[in-house]
Amino acid sequence: MLFFNIVAITTLVPAVRASALRPIRPQQADLSQFSHLESPVALQGVLKNIGANGSDVAGASAGAVVASPSTSHPDYFYTWTRDAALTFSMIVDRFLAGDNSLESLIHQYIAAQAKLQTVSNPSGGLSDGTGLGEPKFYTNLTAFLGSWGRPQRDGPALRASTLIAYGKHLMAAGQQSVVKSNIWPIVQNDLTYVAEYWNQTGFDLWEEIEGSSFFTTAAQHRALVEGSAFAGALGQSCDGCDSQAPQILCFLQNFWNGTAVVSNLAANDGRSGLDANSLLSSIHTFDPAARCDDTTFQPCSARALSNHKLVIDSFRSLYGVNSGKAAGSAIAIGRYAEDTYQGGNPWYLTTLAAAEQLYDALYQWKRQGSLSITQTSLPFFQGLVLSAATGNYSSSSTTYSSITKAVQAYADGFVSVVQQYTPNNGTLSEQFSRENGTPISARDLTWSYASFLTAVARRGRSMPSSWGSSRANKVPTQCQGSSATGTYVTPTVRSW
Ligand SMILES: *[C@@H]1O[C@H](CO)[C@@H](O)[C@H](O)[C@H]1NC(C)=O
Ligand SMILES: *[C@@H]1O[C@H](CO)[C@@H](O)[C@H](O)[C@H]1NC(C)=O
Ligand SMILES: *[C@@H]1O[C@H](CO)[C@@H](O)[C@H](O)[C@H]1NC(C)=O
Ligand SMILES: *[C@@H]1O[C@H](CO)[C@@H](O)[C@H](O)[C@H]1NC(C)=O
Ligand SMILES: *[C@@H]1O[C@H](CO)[C@@H](O)[C@H](O)[C@H]1NC(C)=O
Ligand SMILES: *[C@@H]1O[C@H](CO)[C@@H](O)[C@H](O)[C@H]1NC(C)=O
Repeated sequence: MLFFNIVAITTLVPAVRASALRPIRPQQADLSQFSHLESPVALQGVLKNIGANGSDVAGASAGAVVASPSTSHPDYFYTWTRDAALTFSMIVDRFLAGDNSLESLIHQYIAAQAKLQTVSNPSGGLSDGTGLGEPKFYTNLTAFLGSWGRPQRDGPALRASTLIAYGKHLMAAGQQSVVKSNIWPIVQNDLTYVAEYWNQTGFDLWEEIEGSSFFTTAAQHRALVEGSAFAGALGQSCDGCDSQAPQILCFLQNFWNGTAVVSNLAANDGRSGLDANSLLSSIHTFDPAARCDDTTFQPCSARALSNHKLVIDSFRSLYGVNSGKAAGSAIAIGRYAEDTYQGGNPWYLTTLAAAEQLYDALYQWKRQGSLSITQTSLPFFQGLVLSAATGNYSSSSTTYSSITKAVQAYADGFVSVVQQYTPNNGTLSEQFSRENGTPISARDLTWSYASFLTAVARRGRSMPSSWGSSRANKVPTQCQGSSATGTYVTPTVRSW
């Protein structure tokens, strides 16, 4: 069994074996060397956690993404809809960038999701859609019956976006009928769910707070916008997408308080609201074709940059590992300052999200040929370049050059923090100690590895495709609570 596991992984990732033989010593490498050495380890780290052949997750079903092989303190041996969708978003992007070896795994993921949509669970079932909000399942694709923070309404939205990214590729390759039979029914269920339930409370991505989560609302808006276009391209329709997306965008504006994103509303949680939730939202609703739109909180928007500074600064004096770091330099980032879970330490994936947002912003400025500094974003820019002043700077100006250089160095700084606290064998757990940087909590966290790979991809200017945000950034003048009903169908995945 073990023999086959190793064969499968090395077949998928030919580069792994060679690099695994070399000592990695990540702390001593420069950033590009570190990325080069760590990337195959991270990809292998992801693949080892996906059934049925992932060598660290024996017993997991085909296509099931296990959050971490850790079975105690904490037990993450489950498959979460969110983590799986974000992981496969990265895998689909790599496939689209040319790694054809990943396609059969994508098919297995899709088949696993079709099965999971039909599994009745404590959140409900498929007939009225409620079961789609269930956050996690056993890795053999059966319902987890224990108590949990449920429902979590980001999962269906994220899954729809991941399946749409792959579906668009098949459509472009002329495989419309395969998309219609194997992908559209799953996507349709998820879109129907979002359109029906977006205006109800649920648990946030950290599974702690019941209320309205910025991450969830942002992911929902994106899914309905691209879902509508995807339906149209297939000769289908998604009336709920069209009627609800503007209202979700309207609601999304409520999270902005003038200088920052208040990540959880109606939560009564006693927190400031500054939370890496918002950084993750910006990178997962990043549209490379967008301008710096405030309404969708694009990575280069004044809002997202002002928020970035406030979120980062909330961790400056919190952790021992950040002491002695000057204002304006990159530091280790956790989830939110009040966090106590597993010690409330910095996380790899949130520190990497801080970098990724800035790589995305750099791409957007370059593409539009300018950057602007407004009163809202001024504190962010002045934190990096003291002399920064409001204005519009064309990419041919010296100000543009000096500012983008500083932003690039700042972004790289967050990856360097991760590099500093990555053990020599390149493994990434969930957290690293706030005092001394040693790995803490679940080992080999799939999402940590995926976040490394997406941050490094964006650093290397490898971008996801547009989700059409520029057609969906106008906020209605009056927000309305609402819901649309639609149909739920039993999905089946036949041959590809
Ligand atoms: C697992 O590996 C075996 C042997 O290489 C292969 O026959 C099988 O199809 C693989 N299963 C999955 C789900 O990839
Ligand atoms: C699925 O896994 C769970 C947890 O390990 C176990 O309790 C259950 O019996 C399994 N179900 C099936 C059908 O194998
Ligand atoms: C927005 O919220 C953050 C976090 O609580 C706070 O630091 C900031 O002062 C608030 N901004 C305004 C304008 O109220
Ligand atoms: C920058 O350009 C925008 C859009 O053209 C304009 O509204 C704004 O006033 C300009 N800002 C400055 C400081 O020139
Ligand atoms: C990698 O290094 C970490 C930290 O030293 C250690 O806990 C872990 O067991 C190692 N993993 C492997 C697969 O060697
Ligand atoms: C529902 O939408 C309305 C209008 O945007 C908003 O005021 C309300 O807070 C929303 N409730 C939830 C739970 O989303």
